[in-house]
Amino acid sequence: MSASEGKASVIGVFGRSAADYEQVGVEFFTPMGRALVERAGVGEGARVLDVGCGRGHVLLPAAEAAGPSGTAVGIDLAEEMVALTASAAAHLPWVTVSVGDAAAPDFPDGSFDTVLAGLVIFFLPSPEDALTAYRRVLRPGGRLAFSTFGAQDPVFESVVKTLASFAPPAEGERPLDRFRDPASITGLLAGWSGVEITEHVIESRFSDRSVFWEWLWSHGIRALLEQIPGSRLDEARDAAFAVLPEAPFSLHTTLRVTTATARA
Ligand SMILES: C[S@@+](CC[C@H](N)C(=O)[O-])C[C@H]1O[C@@H](n2cnc3c(N)ncnc32)[C@H](O)[C@@H]1O
Repeated sequence: MSASEGKASVIGVFGRSAADYEQVGVEFFTPMGRALVERAGVGEGARVLDVGCGRGHVLLPAAEAAGPSGTAVGIDLAEEMVALTASAAAHLPWVTVSVGDAAAPDFPDGSFDTVLAGLVIFFLPSPEDALTAYRRVLRPGGRLAFSTFGAQDPVFESVVKTLASFAPPAEGERPLDRFRDPASITGLLAGWSGVEITEHVIESRFSDRSVFWEWLWSHGIRALLEQIPGSRLDEARDAAFAVLPEAPFSLHTTLRVTTATARA
């Protein structure tokens, strides 16, 4: 798959999941977004850019921290995400949400104090180039905070493995597996100072298995589900349910937050 086909495919999946993203009664992106904004240390009056803003689980807490004397700009390539987040932020006049590419944000040099990227960097064809672009749009001394995944719950890993056995073999690495190794993150940040990586274990509770199934369709794992032939989906779901514990149950996901400062 070419880089542009890869991008279109990611955007298509998130467009189709946008309506249900973090809306099925499971807390996953909400605590992750809060952890990222807290680590970024967004202060009152800050000018914030959030790339790959999705449904605003980073953008909205950042906008709250910046307050009306600041600005919070969210960009995403999935138009459905942009429309829903713009409507959720309509009561916050210092927030703008528009269609834009996290790989190449189109803003003047030095226009932000903080750039945030929640769970998006691994989807970009060249994270190195994206980080260079974030440094350009940050003022000298401005702060970058982005999140990736650390260890996933072994139950979740088993579910993914089970589902993958119903889909055609994947080409290359799964995006979510990129940057599992912290060394692969620090290697990208040579031009930055004060690099810090913290880990946050997020608990997500599932009241029953059908909620778990709905949740899988509501975010990036949808890409895998869409690869499974429709005629085998029920079988795949039953096989996935067979590796789940009795409901209610929790999954624990490690979020990795990287913060760095743009060198003056
Ligand atoms: C896993 S979601 C994360 C959303 C949000 N940051 C959060 O933490 O909930 C990834 C988001 O990145 C967006 N995305 C993927 N590639 C992108 C790109 N090149 N430019 C802008 N957005 C992109 C998707 O449309 C999706 O909304």
